[in-house]
Amino acid sequence: MLEVRIGPRPAPGEPLVGEGARTVALALEGERAAYLINAHRRGFGCLRKGPGVLGWPTVTDLPMPTRRPDGPLVDAFGRVARDLRVSVTDRCNLRCTYCMPAEGLPWLPKPEMLTDAELIRLVGVLVGLGVRQVRLTGGEPLLRRSLPDVVAGIAALDPRPTIAMTTNGIGLDRLAAPLAAAGLDRVNVSLDTIDRGEFLALTRRDRLADVERGLQAAAAAGLAPVKVNAVAMRGINDADVADLLQWCMERGYELRFIEQMPLDAGHEWQATSMVTADEVEQRLRERFTLTPVPGRGSAPAERFLIDGGPATVGIIASVSRPFCGDCDRVRLTADGQVRNCLFANSEADLRTPLRSGATDADLAQVIRDEMWRKAPGHGIGTSGFHQPDRPMSAIGG
Ligand code: 5AD
Ligand code: SF4
Repeated sequence: MLEVRIGPRPAPGEPLVGEGARTVALALEGERAAYLINAHRRGFGCLRKGPGVLGWPTVTDLPMPTRRPDGPLVDAFGRVARDLRVSVTDRCNLRCTYCMPAEGLPWLPKPEMLTDAELIRLVGVLVGLGVRQVRLTGGEPLLRRSLPDVVAGIAALDPRPTIAMTTNGIGLDRLAAPLAAAGLDRVNVSLDTIDRGEFLALTRRDRLADVERGLQAAAAAGLAPVKVNAVAMRGINDADVADLLQWCMERGYELRFIEQMPLDAGHEWQATSMVTADEVEQRLRERFTLTPVPGRGSAPAERFLIDGGPATVGIIASVSRPFCGDCDRVRLTADGQVRNCLFANSEADLRTPLRSGATDADLAQVIRDEMWRKAPGHGIGTSGFHQPDRPMSAIGG
């Protein structure tokens, strides 16, 4: 047993002691212990940036606190959800191999999808619980015809959250300006390669030119900074990551690489074939000088100045260096289920109570309960990991 007291973050190897101590005896060591200390010290309502948060706990069997506070949307590990991802449709006009099968997926039936009014009401409840940023995702969010109305509805909430969108860019040439006018603040456009053949191999559609037009329109509409998200896939685009970076730099787009996660509909993801963040970094260093930008805080991306700056590139090691300990996200699916994690194996139904007369307070309670159950980490690569039944396109990235 290790005796642990509350105190400042210890140096590596130093025992965990300090003032204001509340002793907890644990058969733990290192980061696990420190994580629990933080939860105790802060009375379970703690802020994730507080001293003592060391990030990613390596196991999932930490003792659970029994009391849940009112106030912001917290989980049992003291993380506070501020960032809401809303999937507005599960449909898509691309078929990225790491996401969907060639034939697509059985789409959600229309009656199961939230209407605009329902969606905006649920976002409002979440804003009431402390959400301050809303990101619209899909599938492909631009395929929801009423998207400008959804944006306008969210922009009318008080307090008004920041509104961002993750899109594949197809159709953005037409929609960037109306969406910006409705209140959209920022976009992330998913683009893995600027080689037409590779684009076709990755997305199974010959639509690279549409994405380029979409990016230009986003910049013209002031949806700045325009960010580009890329996934490197072995044997397809991994050798060309530096070309993509060069291309983005020349156009003023901020590129971020994301490790491929096990969220494909075919459940074919393998740790051994994933292109790691370190590999991407190495490839980029063959052409550019990368200098780490300090002060990353809790942001998932490790950012680097490219050739001294000011342009930067981000690398998100979601699998090889998870940042679950700092997670501030909560998700809402297009059919009205709240999820506490991309990888959650449970979700809470908000649509049924919503359609049978629940009050905002009732809905808030369902959301709080689901958040409280959030696991400390995704556990990819551990024996207990179970890929969620919903594919990425039906959860929202
Ligand atoms: N792993 C990592 N990123 C993914 N995306 C889709 N599927 C995966 C996956 N399995 C990305 C898309 C887009 C965002 C919604 O998530 O490329 O940028
Ligand atoms: Fe569509 Fe995005 Fe999935 Fe690609 S990753 S198929 S763009 S939902």
